[in-house]
Amino acid sequence: MPMTPPALAKIDGISEFEDLNPDPNILEVNLRAEQAQVEISPGHVTNVLAFNGQTPGPMLHARVGDRVIVHFENGLAEETMIHWHGLRIHSDMDGNPMVSTPIPAGGTFTYDFVVPDAGTFWYHPHASEIEQIERGLYGPIVVEEKDAPKFTSERIFVLDDIRFDKNFQVAPFGDPMDMMMGRWGSTLLVNGKTKLATGSIARGAIERWRFVNTAGARPMTVTMFGGSTRVIATDGGLVPEPYIRHTLIIAPGQRYDVELTADDSEATSIRIEGRIEVQQSDGSFVDTPFTLADWAIDGSVEATPPSYPAVTMPDIADAPSSKQLRLGMTQDVQGNMTMTINGMDGRKLPVAEYPQNAPVRFTIVNDDKMHLHPFHFHGQFFQILTKNGKPANEPGLKDTVLVEAGMTVTILTYFENAGDWMYHCHIPEHAMEGMMAELRVTP
Ligand code: C2O
Ligand code: CU
Repeated sequence: MPMTPPALAKIDGISEFEDLNPDPNILEVNLRAEQAQVEISPGHVTNVLAFNGQTPGPMLHARVGDRVIVHFENGLAEETMIHWHGLRIHSDMDGNPMVSTPIPAGGTFTYDFVVPDAGTFWYHPHASEIEQIERGLYGPIVVEEKDAPKFTSERIFVLDDIRFDKNFQVAPFGDPMDMMMGRWGSTLLVNGKTKLATGSIARGAIERWRFVNTAGARPMTVTMFGGSTRVIATDGGLVPEPYIRHTLIIAPGQRYDVELTADDSEATSIRIEGRIEVQQSDGSFVDTPFTLADWAIDGSVEATPPSYPAVTMPDIADAPSSKQLRLGMTQDVQGNMTMTINGMDGRKLPVAEYPQNAPVRFTIVNDDKMHLHPFHFHGQFFQILTKNGKPANEPGLKDTVLVEAGMTVTILTYFENAGDWMYHCHIPEHAMEGMMAELRVTP
């Protein structure tokens, strides 16, 4: 008889998929992309693209090693495909246009994979990303550790920004400035709402908070007040040593898990603040705090500090080969812009081949003094070694690294997962303008 695993934690913030499969080790769900009307800003109905009628889509919540079956139905008027950002699954199930065929309007596809790593991930379309993700198609994935640490409670914060028009509709696309900078919204969203999260937290509580940045172009600056906060996990799961952080900069695509201890005896509330530019009467923009969550401290609990399973990072000294990626931009005489990798449209680069399990040190140079690039590898994890020659101080396994304008970053990519993979800037406009390429990890 297979052992029944312990129940998964309850995570506040986003509703979960209904599991259609009685086997405790299989999560089987229906997923449909379609148009919907939702209330993002209180009192206003916004037309969106939604997963199962909601944005963010339902949380895919499993335990490491579980099999996940997703019966996907494309109810959009155009083709799409679903990518499971950060999951190191088989490339056939990775849902990206360089490796698989998009699913036509009205079509279906069954994604079937085993979740190999614990961590916080997300899913989103990999077709017409500029509009599909921005109009609301994204959802979180939580994969729990085998011996998941226990907390007083757990919450998830899916962060996004949206550009509203006067009628609280998604503003039109195609602004030439967006094609350069990516599309930045006018309002921050937490779990699909402009309204802040409220409620209460007991003094002494120890919580796990999971942050996902699903925005197209905006790195989210998140500051936490009222308790002690430590980063416990990032893109690829638990970090080897939790470390104290009050402010996180989360690049588009990245994730952070934080342990919050409500231990400040002076504090009356626990707050999370983002930042957004607010236009002044003279037309200028001022970077302004934006409250994402605010909980009153109410009552008290005696919480047992969670114990974290030991995490060992692969050896960073072991990089037999290295490779340079130069990120840039060119313009032809007609003014058509190309975002380049090593001087050309990345889609025209030959498919780079790397042997499996032979780590490669990439030096990513952003030659462009104006654009930032959250750079992402599908199906692989890496460690960020340096930024502008200094230790990056971003521990843990990553799948996305923020390469700021003019910056040089070194990462060590492990290439543990054989297959055909995309690597690209996570700003959809930049990817569509050429900052995407393919590589092959050969067994
Ligand atoms: Cu979120 Cu090609 O990735
Ligand atoms: Cu970019």
